[in-house]
Amino acid sequence: IDVNAFQTDFRNWYQTHKRDLPWRRDQEPYHVWLSEIMLQQTRVDTVIPYYEKFLKLFPTVQDLANAPEDQLMKAWEGLGYYSRARNLQKAARQIVQDYNGEWPTTAKELQNLAGVGPYTAAAIASISFNEKIPAIDGNAFRVFSRLFEIKADIADPKSRQVFAAAILPLMPDAAPGDFNQAVMDLGSMIATPKEPDIAHDPLRKYSLSYADGTWMDYPVKTKQKKPK
Ligand code: ADE
Repeated sequence: IDVNAFQTDFRNWYQTHKRDLPWRRDQEPYHVWLSEIMLQQTRVDTVIPYYEKFLKLFPTVQDLANAPEDQLMKAWEGLGYYSRARNLQKAARQIVQDYNGEWPTTAKELQNLAGVGPYTAAAIASISFNEKIPAIDGNAFRVFSRLFEIKADIADPKSRQVFAAAILPLMPDAAPGDFNQAVMDLGSMIATPKEPDIAHDPLRKYSLSYADGTWMDYPVKTKQKKPK
């Protein structure tokens, strides 16, 4: 694969087709973090009005750390998965108390925050702090398993490392957060689970599974086995 050509094609596609989303207005970690937590289990269209309202109520991480619980829960009402809201305030208090209001800048450190796992940490680190690290969610599993015919079982936690090793060499040094967000947009608009819009896929000429007609076999996902 010609990495330079791949990066140029993907970047051009993103510049032209990226979704205009409120959390893409700046790289402020508070904004990026809030959006990523809301998007963990909720669709983009649902999140947008909650995101806007939440930031009006709690403009800074300090405001969120100090928010009365009833006000916080009311702002979250309808989003579901309320442990996210509790972790949100817990993490806001960590930032204020443990980090003196200064966000840690690496994915590794960001994982110390309540509710922040490997995907969310990588999203924040790449978008806010330009760390070159793949943010691997369902979109990334689908996009890259189809691109390279990666057969690692995405239900197996060990597969994350297989995907990270495949994706990292494709990431540009400049704007790695745009690369990660391009994967999210490609995965939700073009490289969809059921009927990918291959004609409009900017990566189709690089895709092994399109060449072989096997894209519907990816990603490989077995039923998760109960740990012994
Ligand atoms: N889903 C999760 N994070 C996202 C982001 N930053 N933009 C669009 N969709 C997302």
